[in-house]
Amino acid sequence: MSGTGDNVKRLRSSRVCFVIPTYNEAANVTPLLARLTGLYRGDDTAFLIVDDESPDGTADLVREFAANDSRVRLLEGKRRGLGDAYVRGITHALNNLGAQIIVQMDADFSHDPADAHKLLAHLDAGTDVAIGSRYVAGGGIDARWSPARRLLSRWGNRLARWVAGLAAVHDCTAGFKAINADALRAAQVEKISVQGYAFQVVLLHRLLAAGARVVEEPIYFRERERGHTKLGVKDIFAFFCHIWWLRLTRHRTFIKFALTGLSGAVINLGSFQILLDLGLHKLLASPIAIELSIVSNFLINNYWTFADRALTGRKRVRGMKFNLVSLATLTLSYATFVALSALFPSALPVLLQGLGIVPAALLNYFVNSFWTFRDIKPRGLR
Ligand code: GDD
Ligand code: MN
Repeated sequence: MSGTGDNVKRLRSSRVCFVIPTYNEAANVTPLLARLTGLYRGDDTAFLIVDDESPDGTADLVREFAANDSRVRLLEGKRRGLGDAYVRGITHALNNLGAQIIVQMDADFSHDPADAHKLLAHLDAGTDVAIGSRYVAGGGIDARWSPARRLLSRWGNRLARWVAGLAAVHDCTAGFKAINADALRAAQVEKISVQGYAFQVVLLHRLLAAGARVVEEPIYFRERERGHTKLGVKDIFAFFCHIWWLRLTRHRTFIKFALTGLSGAVINLGSFQILLDLGLHKLLASPIAIELSIVSNFLINNYWTFADRALTGRKRVRGMKFNLVSLATLTLSYATFVALSALFPSALPVLLQGLGIVPAALLNYFVNSFWTFRDIKPRGLR
């Protein structure tokens, strides 16, 4: 990592545009613009505030500031969420302001304006995307963040890395990045239709898929002093939906795995019902049916779903791994069935057997994908 902040010399003269969304940031926007315009003095720099009719008069303060500094611009629109504001702002900066580099950041001083220097230095060195990262060595988060928010952010990032295939990046939800305009065009940012905070992870995914080179620069994320966060439950829910959607649409392996799982479910429930009809007790029919589906799943996954993966280790090791995974799957699925049977003794057994598949399927996918059939060569985007 390079640069120590304020005195990094810009090697290339690119037109830089800061894109900063605001919603009710009247307490922050003027000091932020004062700080930014003071730090980045060149005529080649613009500061675009994207405000969505904030009722607290944020836009008026921006207009006031812009009257004395023509580098400050205001883009106004209807409020449709953080992602929507970014898509409009970035598209405007690319098409109308001649931006060659975009810096996206929050308006609440959580992102230190001085850190943008370090991000820009990475772009000067030839990187396409420089992320201000909280989750690499040297980075961090304000101690004032509640344990709940910390947990959410940590696990949101872990899931984004594992589920959406962004393993190469540690801070996938970061809102502080410098991005090359060509990389943004290649990623077709204007086509992103994500309205809320999930935008961050979707944009990153698109950039990586388009082949962008990404580095992470450690930053310290400060809790805001004034105003309130706009992150809502809806954003959190949308985030989890989007990471799975990214995986589903991008990775054929996942679709194959899902189809295999579906066939396994049919075999499991079909044989369970047949065994019941033959007079077997449900507590005995259940594990037999689960085991049958495990074997068929393994065979199909081995010869179809993960057939293209160069397998790690020796056959014996793989066999051992498979047996362990199967044991865990069998236990989890059967335990769920037994527990549900005890809780709802009069419920249709085949329904409970079906519910037993759910936790086992999730476990199975992760373990198989990351362990039993693991890819030898991890790529930037998996
Ligand atoms: N125009 C517009 N419209 N701006 C918005 C909207 C909106 O609907 N929602 C939020 N903003 C602005 C805020 O005014 C602020 O400048 C910035 O977007 C970030 O919003 P915060 O509400 O302060 O977000 P946060 O601090 O909870 O979340 C931060 O961390 C997340 C990861 O932990 C942001 O950096 C997120 O981008 C990041 O994903
Ligand atoms: Mn904030």
